[in-house]
Amino acid sequence: MQIISDPLELRAALRMLRASGGPPLPRSVGFVPTMGALHAGHRSLVQAARQRCDVVVASIFVNPTQFGPNEDFSRYPRTLEQDCQMLEDERVDVVFTPAAEVMYPPGASTFVDVEGVGERLDGASRPGHFRGVATVVAKLFHIVQPDFAFFGQKDAAQVAVLRKMARELDFPVDMVICSTVREPDGLAMSSRNRYLSAEERRQALSLSRALLAAQTQADHGEQSASALLETMRATLQDEPAVRVDYLAVVDPDTLLPLENVAAGALLAVAAYVGSTRLIDNVLLPPRGGNAGVSGKKKS
Ligand code: PAJ
Repeated sequence: MQIISDPLELRAALRMLRASGGPPLPRSVGFVPTMGALHAGHRSLVQAARQRCDVVVASIFVNPTQFGPNEDFSRYPRTLEQDCQMLEDERVDVVFTPAAEVMYPPGASTFVDVEGVGERLDGASRPGHFRGVATVVAKLFHIVQPDFAFFGQKDAAQVAVLRKMARELDFPVDMVICSTVREPDGLAMSSRNRYLSAEERRQALSLSRALLAAQTQADHGEQSASALLETMRATLQDEPAVRVDYLAVVDPDTLLPLENVAAGALLAVAAYVGSTRLIDNVLLPPRGGNAGVSGKKKS
């Protein structure tokens, strides 16, 4: 596994890898962007890429532009050595670990803004967050030039923003969305879970519990978004230490509120457990339909 921090060196390595090995040539490149502190959720993306693509590239970059001034950029967990071990175990070909000054040279002032969608859900709670995400992912796409890029449904609003960006900026990339990996008790895996004390870890379960309660209600035929929101709210109230940021029943592509979930919906929650902000979501498939949205491959 090559670990490369220079974009030009990465391009040269990828040129070689695309052209090497047996037919079919050129070989397909799968890309998994991350901020490190890798866990089983990230591993599932890498495994999906390994299964589907000839060459697998992962990036580890804690992207400063997607953090607000009072957020956790400086204390975000950095575990490069363990991360590289996991990626090597999963037979990743190249890890890209650029420095912040390389991604954002002094005076850099070009950004990608996905208006509308980028200002909803987490984009509303964290102004500028999705501008940072879209900018860094656009830059990474230009550097890596992947055929496939793998993202987690865990970050549902990010999926909506990046799909729209890839489509509207004509990136020739197939966006593959992988389902959320959870701890055995239901907590969605997140790099930020390591901030939680034992007590907060227990309280954090109320997020997945709230989503599951609403999902079960929808499975039993409830179609009203406000009824599902009320169920989520009531479940979260059982854990008064958990401070809700948003609860939403929205269209998974536009992130606009829905009144009725019969055509499918994204149920999403963001909440503070102590000082840690956690998010989680479930996709409701169209009633009478099957797969839901998580299996959609192309933007
Ligand atoms: P990060 O939080 O490290 O997540 C990297 C990828 O892993 C994202 O696509 C995210 O949705 C996915 N992921 C995280 N937890 C998951 C889980 N429990 N199950 C499945 N997938 C999961 O998301 C980012 O980094 C950044 O915003 C990034 C896209 C790298 C841009 O900086």
